[in-house]
Amino acid sequence: MNKPPRHIGVILAAGRGERSGFDRPKQMMKLAGRPLVEHTLAVFQDSADIDQIIVVTNKDCQEQIQQLTANRRFSKVKAVILGGSERYQSSLAAIAATEHLARDYAVKLIFHDAVRPLVNERIIADVAQALRHYNACDVVVPTTDTIVSVDPLTNTIDFIPDRSRLRNGQTPQGFALETVKLAYERALRDPDFKTTDDCGVVLKYVPDEKIYLVTGEHDNLKLTYREELQILDKLLQMKSRQATHQPINPQVFAELKHKVLVVFGGGSGIGLDMVNLAQAHQAHVVVATRGTGVDVTDLTAVKLCLANTVAEFGRIDYVVNTAAVLTCEPLANMDYADVVRSVQINYMGAVNVALAAFDYLRQSQGQLLNFTSSSYTYGRAFYSLYSSAKAAVVNLTQALAEEWHSEGVRVNCINPERTDTPMRKRAFGVEPAGTLMSSHDVALQSLNVLLGKVTGQIFDLRRPA
Ligand code: C5P
Repeated sequence: MNKPPRHIGVILAAGRGERSGFDRPKQMMKLAGRPLVEHTLAVFQDSADIDQIIVVTNKDCQEQIQQLTANRRFSKVKAVILGGSERYQSSLAAIAATEHLARDYAVKLIFHDAVRPLVNERIIADVAQALRHYNACDVVVPTTDTIVSVDPLTNTIDFIPDRSRLRNGQTPQGFALETVKLAYERALRDPDFKTTDDCGVVLKYVPDEKIYLVTGEHDNLKLTYREELQILDKLLQMKSRQATHQPINPQVFAELKHKVLVVFGGGSGIGLDMVNLAQAHQAHVVVATRGTGVDVTDLTAVKLCLANTVAEFGRIDYVVNTAAVLTCEPLANMDYADVVRSVQINYMGAVNVALAAFDYLRQSQGQLLNFTSSSYTYGRAFYSLYSSAKAAVVNLTQALAEEWHSEGVRVNCINPERTDTPMRKRAFGVEPAGTLMSSHDVALQSLNVLLGKVTGQIFDLRRPA
């Protein structure tokens, strides 16, 4: 009788990353407020092709990873085990830990580097599919650089292989358990054995086995050097941008029912559209504006508003801050009182809201949502205070996402392209039709972010092409 297949994701997170000059193992470096390994685990957890997950780690990371995976979010994680000082020893630990399953299942091991957090469900699905026909498979992308083979004695080129036949190897790498186990049994008897990946072991020690190639993605990048953390961060942002361009399934908004939402600056523009949409989905919404007696520059007023909300509704799930002012004037011409006011509203407002909201959001495991502007990446003449405060808001979002991650509070930021709001009209007058996003669309995408799981993200919203 054929045994049912069991796909086990093996997340290799036992490296110490000493070569790369990080202050902690690479898998624990933060990306958008969360350790790399958490991003990687999330993809495996959400993959329909993975039945269970094993994390292989080292003593330094074990406790943190155990705490992380104790969360229900990672229900597929069945074990966090210790690996070895070489990568292959970590793979061997996973093989040993899964052998007992072979009695009841056709076990397939899908090894993946914890430090490739941008792997996606498509790649995992293709690996699982390949394992229906092959006992080994690798994930690769075409090589874009010319690769040269070197004569190390003379440090000169030996030969240049034909690039059309070269690929860059990534992970995951998938195997039938018995195949990879046999390969390692033979390898360990070889006194000259050395390897950097599991496919290399199968290729050398079980040469009859064909290793099928699955196409990877260029952004399935492995973190090796510090600069790559910035690249991963940008790639992650681009991914969330793509995700926010997907049409929203209106059913997700059903989750807003009975949720408690406070919108600072909810009296006009994007904030008002969020208020209306959330109310239409039966959320309890509190509008906090100067009109309702709440000025974000006044910490006491912000605190009182949140305390009143809790007194009325018992909790606060989401705090949104859209309050801002945009004055178009050269800095040198501005009244000092206006300078202070602009910084107070655009920056201190975000700080005050964050300070006042933290305890409530910790209790509800909720989310703080800030708003920035596309000017944050590059200061704009004539609204220097607005654009620099918006840069600060992005920075604040990233920092708080890290600080509050362990408390279960998510912090994100919306970066809408130029949007048709009363604030923009006051500053720039009437602009050509079709050049602005509608604030309704921005509000829809923003509510969608509130209902999502991520933290530390800056969501760039653009008009659909
Ligand atoms: O060091 P390198 O970048 O090749 O590591 C690739 C992956 O293998 C990383 O996720 C790392 O944590 C893991 N690894 C491991 N055990 C080792 C060495 C590396 O699990 N001894």
